[in-house]
Amino acid sequence: MIKVEGLTKTYKGFTAVDNVSFTCKPGAVTGFLGPNGAGKSTTMRIIAGLTPPSRGIATVNGVNFRDIPNPGTQVGVLLDASAQHAGRTGREILTISALTMGLPSSRVDEMLALVSLSPTEAKRRVKNYSLGMRQRLGIANALLGNPQILMLDEPANGLDPAGIHWMRGLLRDYANRGGTVLLSSHLLHEIEVIADEIIVIGHGSIVAQGTKDELLQTAGTFVKAGDNSALAVALTAAGIMAAPSGDGGLRTESTPEQVGRVAAAAGIPLAELRPADGAGLEEMFLELTASTQREVNTPVGVQA
Ligand SMILES: Nc1ncnc2c1ncn2[C@@H]1O[C@H](COP(=O)(O)OP(=O)(O)O)[C@@H](O)[C@H]1O
Ligand SMILES: [Mg+2]
Repeated sequence: MIKVEGLTKTYKGFTAVDNVSFTCKPGAVTGFLGPNGAGKSTTMRIIAGLTPPSRGIATVNGVNFRDIPNPGTQVGVLLDASAQHAGRTGREILTISALTMGLPSSRVDEMLALVSLSPTEAKRRVKNYSLGMRQRLGIANALLGNPQILMLDEPANGLDPAGIHWMRGLLRDYANRGGTVLLSSHLLHEIEVIADEIIVIGHGSIVAQGTKDELLQTAGTFVKAGDNSALAVALTAAGIMAAPSGDGGLRTESTPEQVGRVAAAAGIPLAELRPADGAGLEEMFLELTASTQREVNTPVGVQA
């Protein structure tokens, strides 16, 4: 169990993480989703005891990460796959970790096999590894101590489609066997396919959290008519709020049946009428991403 309460991190007046609270439960994959710069890595570094928070607390199984004896046997962490001694071989890196944790060297071979790094690859220096190979090595390192909790920061970066598929299977199995997984990504799809619980972060704050089903739940109705403005007028007259949706139609908070009735009564032919499934999360995420982009592109002194 990972628990974060009121976590805040400021750097010289800039708030990177703003009052963030969440819990990751055993038996579930918790997806930590947010655009670049949202505060995911900072939050994870605080959980791993690498960055001190300005306010709030983060605990793993009820204690500070730094107070866990032999932490690698309780929490497997992969924050930056390239943060390894480039001159060491993959096998050397795992062997040093195994020695540090007091594990037999047979565990190194097991992990190399698990992440499909061949004996030849394991003998190569990490500076000659692709990013995908580094991620595999990092996952092997995180799993080495057979921990009950895994925390991985953007582990899918650099993996090819087969590698991503493999990793999803691995994390699913791990959670099904009762493990706790916290996994971050800046890609909605990545999180959507693997996570049971989703935490969405933007500009340092949590903007949504819940089970995947809750967050992807039908969010009202999407409707498209030949004459959208006439339909909007009819819906408003019937007390149904309608707003233009990105894809040339309207979005309402009511059911497709209610919208259909209004359109029929007003004699307005419809081109499309369906539950606006999952679009809520995607739109929110696009908005977050867009506002992040805007900030980056806005010249200093100009209001976004
Ligand atoms: N050591 C630091 N000093 C100053 N700003 C930092 C530092 N670390 C992170 N930040 C800033 O905090 C914000 C969140 O960064 P980060 O947690 O890496 O985001 P994410 O992992 O979601 O992409 C970014 O704006 C980043 O530039
Ligand atoms: Mg990051």
